Amino acid sequence: MPKPVLLVTRKLPDQIEALAAERFDARLNPQDEPWFRDGAEIARRVAECGAAGILCAAGDPLNGAAIAALPASVKAIATFSVGYDHIDVMAARERGITVTNTPEVLSFATAETAMTLMLMAARRAGEGERMVRAGKWEGWAPTQLMGVTLEGKKLGILGMGRIGRELAQMARGFRMEIHYRDINRLPADLEQGAIYHDNDDSFLAAIDVISMHVPGGDATRKWLNKDRLSKMKRGALVVNSGRGGSVDDAALVEALKSGKIRGAGLDVYEGEPKVFEGYMKLENVALLPHLGSATIETRDAMGRRALENLEAVLIKGSPAPHEVR
Ligand code: DGY
Repeated sequence: MPKPVLLVTRKLPDQIEALAAERFDARLNPQDEPWFRDGAEIARRVAECGAAGILCAAGDPLNGAAIAALPASVKAIATFSVGYDHIDVMAARERGITVTNTPEVLSFATAETAMTLMLMAARRAGEGERMVRAGKWEGWAPTQLMGVTLEGKKLGILGMGRIGRELAQMARGFRMEIHYRDINRLPADLEQGAIYHDNDDSFLAAIDVISMHVPGGDATRKWLNKDRLSKMKRGALVVNSGRGGSVDDAALVEALKSGKIRGAGLDVYEGEPKVFEGYMKLENVALLPHLGSATIETRDAMGRRALENLEAVLIKGSPAPHEVR
């Protein structure tokens, strides 16, 4: 039996590319050439090689038009990410294409990134680093770059899924009080004493820091807008390592300028890799380049998970372990 053809849109860790080539007739993108930014181009390449599967990644625009342009040979799309807002899942399902993601294996790494951003925003780490690099540091001073501690602060987690719960666990080590907002309250064993809010107003009024962990898409677009920011405490912190579209950038910039929001830490942006210009001039925002799951261990586990899903559908003819619906 010939191996199924698999189009891999991005440069992946070496061992994952080797595994892909062992199990599939893999067509790789070893130089990470940017054709993955264009859904029509992905579809064209899929048709050219007659791929049965696509291993894509966060941000590859597999929208309705791209899915419609795929040849009938395609049976599975596995994304190397937990988020799948870049794929029109409904359109894929209508064409009988299974879509899968990589949950669980990246929860701890992504929570680590949120924790990093929270500390950077609270302790003005970005400002300090820029000062040292610019040769502007004149030595220790009693009032230099004073931030705020996280100890005893109320952390508000928006979206208490796996990543949110990992962050809660880490934040307990910083003696933070955990609050969360989600559609439903968690069972006690998952809640672990965190305080549930069934409405935005009580959540926003209670917390000192918000960490956002909601999926992208229309339901969460610009969730953190001017109105919601106005309901937060003066001097609160904002962290986003979920999806950039859930923050109204102009409103957050205004709040950072006025001091309503003391500091922010962002890892994700609407229209990445573009970053809203207003952030660039502000000292009180730490900007990371979508590092969420970027550890060697995690990226390896994500690759294995994506390949497991493809193998199930394309080789074993069994249901994918991580199908998204
Ligand atoms: C994901 O998995 O959705 C991340 O954003 C990529 O790290």
